[in-house]
Amino acid sequence: MKKILRAIAWSVGALLALVIVAGCALYFYTQRGMDRKYAIAGHAVHVPADSLALLRGEHVATALSKCVDCHGADLGGRQFIDVPPVARLYAANLTRGAGGVGGVLSDLDWERAIRHGVKPDGSALLFMPSLEFQHLSDDDVGALIAYLKSRPPVDREPAKNSVGPIGRLLYAKGDLVLLPVERVAHEAHPSSPPAAVTAEYGRYLAEIGGCKGCHGEGLSGGRIPGTPPDWKPAANITPTGIGHYTEEDFFRALREGKRPGGVAIDSLMPYRFTKLMTDDEIRAVWLFLKTVPPKPYGGR
Ligand code: HEC
Ligand code: HEC
Repeated sequence: MKKILRAIAWSVGALLALVIVAGCALYFYTQRGMDRKYAIAGHAVHVPADSLALLRGEHVATALSKCVDCHGADLGGRQFIDVPPVARLYAANLTRGAGGVGGVLSDLDWERAIRHGVKPDGSALLFMPSLEFQHLSDDDVGALIAYLKSRPPVDREPAKNSVGPIGRLLYAKGDLVLLPVERVAHEAHPSSPPAAVTAEYGRYLAEIGGCKGCHGEGLSGGRIPGTPPDWKPAANITPTGIGHYTEEDFFRALREGKRPGGVAIDSLMPYRFTKLMTDDEIRAVWLFLKTVPPKPYGGR
């Protein structure tokens, strides 16, 4: 009897030791990426000062790239993910106020943060969607920076970020884009197709609009990595999923958050911002989605 008990105690002890070693390995592997400094030069852009550019910048920050969704309506920063096993993330205060980065960043620093995902010192920005924003054209980044710099200062100190064991595991498996800087094509120089009702411009809007970030690389939907089990998965928006939509239905989805039968779409789908897109922009995205290869649900 004693022997058996001792054997069990040994096995449990060995298993526990294994879990601790694996946990430490995971922790050090992920921490190395997070603590690294990335040598990213960035691309200088012209930052205009005219009122038309400021309006375009505001449109990009709200309707198109939705910076305000994470950074808050006043851009003063907010805790936008608070799921400790995955992560606690605070989107920075972008204004010139106390606790904000607005008074510190040079125009080039802004560009490196937005399109490349790094802080001025080269450390990685966690979860900031530069994988999508790398596609922003020079004109749109320039207008965006001009607009952000024009915002009134907000005094708000940011909370500390932390990444929990599930977040680290998902990152190590390659499912969670925790460090976008590792995946951005830093040398590529983006340009935007002319703003028009074309599938090509629609693709640009879908890229900078983060549709892929939630609906998956192939837009076929599925669970959004790292979201708690009770959160709605993203829908399949390839022709397999929304082939039955008319253009009118698509407008209703993006403007009112309703499906063709009138059933509400979960507010995780950011229709409070997509509703601010112009008619032509929504039409362009619609044209683009019709050109996407049909895929079964979740075939990311
Ligand atoms: C999905 C949420 C999300 C969206 C959308 C988002 N950000 Fe961020 N952003 C973050 C988080 C989180 C951080 C803080 C990352 C960190 O500290 O590691 C951040 C940090 C930043 C910084 C940090 C600068 C610094 O030096 O610390 C800048 C600049 C920035 N974001 C600009 C933008 C702009 C401009 C947009 C819109 C085009 C945008 N962000 C959209 C989540 C987001
Ligand atoms: C922050 C994550 C997120 C982003 C960004 C996002 N979506 Fe969604 N979207 C969702 C989720 C989640 C659902 C499913 C909600 C539900 O099941 O009620 C959804 C549903 C939809 C639907 C309804 C599909 C159906 O089944 O009827 C359409 C259409 C749609 N999204 C289009 C888009 C487009 C176009 C973009 C880019 C401009 C986009 N979404 C960006 C999360 C997102």
